[in-house]
Amino acid sequence: MKDHRLSVAPMVDRTDRHFRFLVRQISRKVRLYSEMTVDQAVLRGNRERLLAFHPEEHPVALQLAGSDPKSLAEAARIGEAFGYDEVNLNLGCPSERAQRGGYGACLLGDPGRVAEILRAMAEAVRVPVSVKLRLGLEGRETYPELAGMVERFAEAGVRVFIVHARSALLGLSTRANREIPPLRHGWVYRLKADFPQLTFALNGGVRTLEEALAHLGRVDGVMLGRAVYEDPFVLAEADRRVFGLDRRPTRLQVARRLRAYLEEEALRGTPPWAVLRHALNLFRGQPKGRLWRRLLAEGRSLTALDRALRALEDEEVKEGGQEEDPDPKGHPQAALGPARGRV
Ligand SMILES: Cc1cc2nc3c(=O)[nH]c(=O)nc-3n(C[C@H](O)[C@H](O)[C@H](O)COP(=O)(O)O)c2cc1C
Repeated sequence: MKDHRLSVAPMVDRTDRHFRFLVRQISRKVRLYSEMTVDQAVLRGNRERLLAFHPEEHPVALQLAGSDPKSLAEAARIGEAFGYDEVNLNLGCPSERAQRGGYGACLLGDPGRVAEILRAMAEAVRVPVSVKLRLGLEGRETYPELAGMVERFAEAGVRVFIVHARSALLGLSTRANREIPPLRHGWVYRLKADFPQLTFALNGGVRTLEEALAHLGRVDGVMLGRAVYEDPFVLAEADRRVFGLDRRPTRLQVARRLRAYLEEEALRGTPPWAVLRHALNLFRGQPKGRLWRRLLAEGRSLTALDRALRALEDEEVKEGGQEEDPDPKGHPQAALGPARGRV
C-alpha cells in the first residue's frame, strides 16, 4: 500500500492547492489531502478551478463527499484523470449542510449505503480509494460497530482507513465536533491489531512530530490537521525523521520558493493574497514571526512579500542565521524551536 506514514488532513478553506504547495516545500514526502469537494461540484462545476494542482504536490489525494454511488464513482474517475494519487470519501463532516445533503458523518448511520458507494468508487478507478471516518455517531459509538464497518468497507475494496478518533455529535457545530467528543486513540491501535492487513492512519489532536512518531509504533500512519496550519514548520523534520531523507529546509528557503511560486501563479491570474494568506504562520514562534505576519497581511502583494523577506533576511544576518542546516546530524528536535510542544 502507498505510504501513509504522515499526512496533512483535508481542511476546507485551508488545504487548497496553494497551502499544499507550501507544505510540499517543507516536506517532500508527507501525503496531502484536498479540501472536501462535493461530488456535484466536480460533476457540474469548474473542474479546472476545483481540481487542478501543481505537479510538485504529489502524493496528493482528492477528498470527495456525497451520498450517491453513481455520482461519486464519476467524480472519483474525474479526480483520477486529473492525476490524484488517491480518492478519499469523507465520512466525518458533521455540519448541518452535510446532514441536509446526506453526506459526511451522517452516512456512518448507514454502513450498507457506504459500502455500496465505496464499491462503485473502487470499481471506477485504479488509484486507491480510502475513507476518513469518525468512530461513530452521537457518542453512542462502540468498538464492535466500528470494527464491523471497517470489515464491510474493506470488503467493498477499501484498504486505507483514516480514523479521526472521536465520534460525531450531529447537533453540535463542526468546531465543537473537533473538541468535545473525547479522543480515543486506543481504538485506532486496536483496529490495526484486529485488521493487520489493512492500513490505518490515526487522526485527531496530534500536535507535534514527536507525538506522531510515538503513534507510528502502533499504526501505519498519522494525519495532522490544525497543528500544521497553525505552524507549518511542525513538519520541518518530517522528511528526515519519518521518511529517512537527508533534508531539512529553512523557513527562508521555503519563503523564497514561495516567492517564485507567486510569480508563476500571477501569470495564471491568481491573486497574491490567495497564496500569501496561507504563509502567515510560516515564521510562527520565530523572533520576527509577527512582523512577517503583519507585513504580509497589510500589503497582500508580491511587494509585501519582498519587504517581509528583506526584514527577515536582515535578522538572519544579525543573528548569524544560516540558510543550510548547520548540523544535520545534530539534535533535530531542538531545531524545531519554541513552537514545538505548543498546545
Ligand atoms: C478548518 C477545518 C476544516 C476542516 N475540513 C475538513 C474537510 O474538508 N474534510 C475532512 O475530512 N475533515 C475536515 N476537517 C477535520 C480535519 O481533517 C481533522 O480530522 C480534524 O481537524 C482533527 O485533526 P487535528 O486535531 O489534527 O486538527 C477540518 C478541520 C478544520 C480545522
